[in-house]
Amino acid sequence: MKAIFERRSIRKYTGESISDKDLEELLKAAMAAPSAGNQQSWEFVVIKDRVILKEMVGIHPDGYQMLEDAPLAIMVCGNLDREIYEGYWVQDCSAATENILLAAQSKGLGTVWLGVYPMENRVKALKKMFGLPEKAIPLSIVSVGHPAEKKKPSNRFDQSRIHTNIW
Ligand SMILES: Cc1cc2nc3c(=O)[nH]c(=O)nc-3n(C[C@H](O)[C@H](O)[C@H](O)COP(=O)(O)O)c2cc1C
Repeated sequence: MKAIFERRSIRKYTGESISDKDLEELLKAAMAAPSAGNQQSWEFVVIKDRVILKEMVGIHPDGYQMLEDAPLAIMVCGNLDREIYEGYWVQDCSAATENILLAAQSKGLGTVWLGVYPMENRVKALKKMFGLPEKAIPLSIVSVGHPAEKKKPSNRFDQSRIHTNIW
């Protein structure tokens, strides 16, 4: 519960790199996510190359700026060839993305969920940049680093959003 309630988007990072052990645990957390019929329609592209990270900023300069300083990013992609239940890859990959954010939070790492799908221009640019197969669609990019900013937990609980038994 602590990781869920204290997680915030962290967009500023120290220069410190992410250890292989931490990276592996983030990916294990991602693959521990629930998926439709346990189809696990996800694939992950780990980006450590600073030149490529900087290049990715150009795809959406207003939204992907933090990749300029991030030591690492994980692009979460749906693989339509792995789908049993058509269209559910979006939920599968969203659950995997959130698991990465929460695992990182519990390790004291900072992340941001960067939206890709369904923005066609971003999907197209990333598919080209990383040579993704036709059936692979990027859903999100998670920027990961050691936090160089602190944010207070945000309480968004709103009783009026809860509808019991009927709307
Ligand atoms: C689907 C999705 C797409 C997002 N895309 C971006 C993005 O492109 N750039 C960015 O800086 N933050 C992005 N965010 C992060 C949100 O801005 C952030 O989660 C929201 O403002 C709430 O703040 P918090 O994460 O600190 O609680 C995205 C979040 C989600 C869930």
